Amino acid sequence: MLLKVLVLLVLASVVVVVKTQQPTFNDDVLGLIFFKAGLEDPNAKLKSWSEDDNDPCNWVGVKCDPTSYRVTELHLDGLSLSGHVGRGLLRLQFLQVLSLSNNNLTGTINSELSRIGSLQIIDLSGNSLSGSIPDDFFAQCGSLKSVSFARNNLTGQIPDSLSSCSMLVWLNFSSNQISGQLPSSIWYLRSLQSLDISGNLVEGEIPQGMGNLYDLRQINFGNNRFSGRLPGDIGSCSLLKVVDFSENYLSGGFPDSMQRLNSCTVISLRGNSFRGSVPGWIGELTSLESLDLSANNFTGEIPSSLGNLQFLRELNLSMNQFTGALPESMANCFNLLALDVSQNLLTGNVPSWMFKKNEKGEINSVNSFIGSMENPWLASREPSYQGLQVLDLSSNALSGELPSNFGVLSSLVFFNMSRNHLFGSIPASIGELKATEVIDLSDNKLNGSIPSEIGGAVSLKELRLQRNFLSGKIPTQIVHCSSLATLILSQNNLSGSIPPAIANLSNLEYVDLSLNSLTGSLPKELANLSQLVSFNISHNHLNGELPTGGFFNTIPTSSVSGNPSLCGSVVNRSCPAVHPKPIVLNPNSSDSIGGSSQNHHRKKIVLSISALIAIGAAAFIVIGVVAVTVLNIHVRSSMARAPTALTLSGGEEFSCSPTNDPNYGKLVMFSGDADFVAGAHALLNKDCELGRGGFGVVYRTILRDGRSVAIKKLTVASLIKSQEEFEREVKTLGKIRHQNLVALEGYYWTPSLQLLIYEFIPSGSLYKHLHDEHSKSSLSWRQRFHIILGMAKGIAYLHRMNVIHYNLKSTNVLIDSSGEPKVGDFGLARLLPTLDRCILSSKIQSALGYMAPEFACKTVKITEKCDVYGFGVLVLEVITGKRPVEYMEDDVVVLCDMVRGALEDGRVEECVDGRLRNNFPAEEAIPVVKLGLICASQVPSNRPDMEEVVNILELIQCPSDGQEELE
Ligand SMILES: *[C@@H]1O[C@H](CO)[C@@H](O)[C@H](O)[C@H]1NC(C)=O
Ligand SMILES: *[C@@H]1O[C@H](CO)[C@@H](O)[C@H](O)[C@H]1NC(C)=O
Ligand SMILES: *[C@@H]1O[C@H](CO)[C@@H](O)[C@H](O)[C@H]1NC(C)=O
Ligand SMILES: *[C@@H]1O[C@H](CO)[C@@H](O)[C@H](O)[C@H]1NC(C)=O
Repeated sequence: MLLKVLVLLVLASVVVVVKTQQPTFNDDVLGLIFFKAGLEDPNAKLKSWSEDDNDPCNWVGVKCDPTSYRVTELHLDGLSLSGHVGRGLLRLQFLQVLSLSNNNLTGTINSELSRIGSLQIIDLSGNSLSGSIPDDFFAQCGSLKSVSFARNNLTGQIPDSLSSCSMLVWLNFSSNQISGQLPSSIWYLRSLQSLDISGNLVEGEIPQGMGNLYDLRQINFGNNRFSGRLPGDIGSCSLLKVVDFSENYLSGGFPDSMQRLNSCTVISLRGNSFRGSVPGWIGELTSLESLDLSANNFTGEIPSSLGNLQFLRELNLSMNQFTGALPESMANCFNLLALDVSQNLLTGNVPSWMFKKNEKGEINSVNSFIGSMENPWLASREPSYQGLQVLDLSSNALSGELPSNFGVLSSLVFFNMSRNHLFGSIPASIGELKATEVIDLSDNKLNGSIPSEIGGAVSLKELRLQRNFLSGKIPTQIVHCSSLATLILSQNNLSGSIPPAIANLSNLEYVDLSLNSLTGSLPKELANLSQLVSFNISHNHLNGELPTGGFFNTIPTSSVSGNPSLCGSVVNRSCPAVHPKPIVLNPNSSDSIGGSSQNHHRKKIVLSISALIAIGAAAFIVIGVVAVTVLNIHVRSSMARAPTALTLSGGEEFSCSPTNDPNYGKLVMFSGDADFVAGAHALLNKDCELGRGGFGVVYRTILRDGRSVAIKKLTVASLIKSQEEFEREVKTLGKIRHQNLVALEGYYWTPSLQLLIYEFIPSGSLYKHLHDEHSKSSLSWRQRFHIILGMAKGIAYLHRMNVIHYNLKSTNVLIDSSGEPKVGDFGLARLLPTLDRCILSSKIQSALGYMAPEFACKTVKITEKCDVYGFGVLVLEVITGKRPVEYMEDDVVVLCDMVRGALEDGRVEECVDGRLRNNFPAEEAIPVVKLGLICASQVPSNRPDMEEVVNILELIQCPSDGQEELE
């Protein structure tokens, strides 16, 4: 019982003791609640601050003295608080730390805050405080040690009263809009260790007296408007580690006293007007890790004493007027991570020492001493430049060759030696630069080829080699640089074709291959490069069709100009022969033709269809689909005349196809057998590709009966009409048979693949006969006349059948073995749905020069008369042997205009193809020229009908002259 009473008593007394030690409802709670009332707290961070709780020591951000339970620290950083810093804080008589950084506080700085006598640290940085710093804030600053008002919107001047804060150690006014001059009283702050007023508008000279601050470790005056010279007594601040006077208007040179700053690790004088040479004693500042003297007016040689700076990690001397060579002694600065000496007047050879691994024995004694005693990690490193990450020697006058082992700089991220006088070739060791993201060797005199080892530089994002003398091919291995975004190789002598693999560099944004000697055609897949911003291939010898889709639909003409053989709507030049060109016979196909009568392979495997599918597969392979298997479908040949319909069973052979249309795979031949003996591989073989045009790619294959056919794979699939309409139109075209028209033999239809099967004409196009420089004999007058008449008959027949050709040009006229012209590719516009005529014109009628003038994208009706225009141009082309539009050095000659001019001047005979050597009857030639010009009249109604044209031609033909004048 007694014990229990005793325990209770003891407990009670403990409670009493505790009670008396807790602050009663004191000024701290009041002050904090009052302070909170002036704030907005959108995220309710100060929820715990409640007036019902008279123990603020548990509140968020509040720290109390463990014995007195009075609030000593307030840390409310980054809580998105807005509002004003209220007077409530003045009640916190024991507050030592007030940290309100990175909020949204506004208003001015309350000058009374410094009256909190206990306050040592005040951090209001990163708010939106405005107004000037009140003069009386510092007038009674008591025990303030650290003040930061950085990153606010403060204006006005730095108050003179600052000098009273003799305890101040850290002062940070950076990133405000403080202006005026720096009061010299600032140098009375003898305890100051860090002074940061960077990023303001402070102007005038730096006042005398800095040398008083014996304790100063860091001075940051960067980004102001200081002028005059550096303080002469700066050297008295012998503990200085960081000296930043960058981006001011300071001038003069290094004050001599600076050589005493041997604790200094960072010196930045960037962006001033300092001049003169850099003193040799700079090498005595052996603690230096970063030296930035860029963008000044320093002259003279780079002091060789820099080699003493063992700890130097960054050296930026760019944008000055330094002369001479990089001192060899710098080989010792093997801790360098970044070296930028660009935009100076440096001469001499590429500093090869930089690229050398030092031999173990070369570790100098100073280094091994420092290494082992102070920096054990350093001793373990092999001293060399291998850690270098940034090397910028650009825009100097350095000469010599790149050292063959420059790949030893294996840490290099940025490498720029552009705009120097380097010669020789790019060393293969470039492939060892595994970490390098930027290589710029542009504007030098490098020759040789781009080494295939470039593929080893797997981190490469930017490769600039423009304006050198590089030759050879663009190495395919470049595809291994999969991050490549910028590839600039312009103004070299590169040749060969553009490697298709480039299309796999899916990050490519800027590509410039202009002004080289590249040949071949552009890989279609380039259209898949989705990030492209520019792709300049102008002034090369590229040919073939420009890729379509993606960036290439909007590629500027200037990016492709200067490639006379490129075609496509962008360059306003139609693509060559959609129809038979000279054929490279498949070695196996002669067998097939020979053995066609007695076929050994009696199996009715329909290779025909697999061949067709293979063509389709060629399209699908792009989207990564597996090859096609041979089909086991039998052709049911039916009556010769009636169309043979053949529907593939199921769709399994088309598992690669994106659709599952049960209707697919319909092959219709208007006559004969549908079997193709040359198998799928032959069709996929590029040798079997005959040509490409606005409508698609043409392949050649051989029927079982030995007959060759040309198969056109329509590439405008998305524009094709419905199956019914397609078939109706194709059947109409299939009925058109004339000795001067290429016969349509059949077709194949799936929703995603349409093929047209044409009669195969072996001797090539009229274009080839007229313009191919390699063709040995040129057409005689008689042959030419025969061609003109034949074409006229063919087109007249088309018009009788109510078909507009729509796409007349010499590549679409084929000449058979007996010299008979056959007009092909007619009526294909009918296969497209009704479309905006602009699309049609760019898609098909891109044949500049053949295009009737009414073919502008307007409302004029397109009639047979537009074929008459095209025919007229063809007539002139046949007679003159010139293309409808000839691109000369810096001129464009339009054939019609040229001939019309000659006719007016009475020298029309001069227009006739020189290869005829005047061996032609003028009495025929002149009327034919005139007929051609009439057909090519600007006004459609002035043009004759094709029937009339045929009649006129038959009248013109001299009955007397039946002789052939062969070459
Ligand atoms: C500061 O306030 C502005 C608008 O007054 C707001 O857009 C911004 O998000 C705020 N910032 C923070 C860190 O809360
Ligand atoms: C800073 O002050 C200027 C004018 O003194 C004002 O235009 C600007 O909006 C202010 N910026 C902020 C973040 O308050
Ligand atoms: C001054 O304050 C800014 C912003 O808080 C900070 O980035 C900078 O490092 C400070 N200066 C010094 C010398 O500490
Ligand atoms: C550098 O000095 C030259 C002559 O000494 C002077 O013409 C030039 O204006 C100076 N440039 C700068 C940025 O001070």
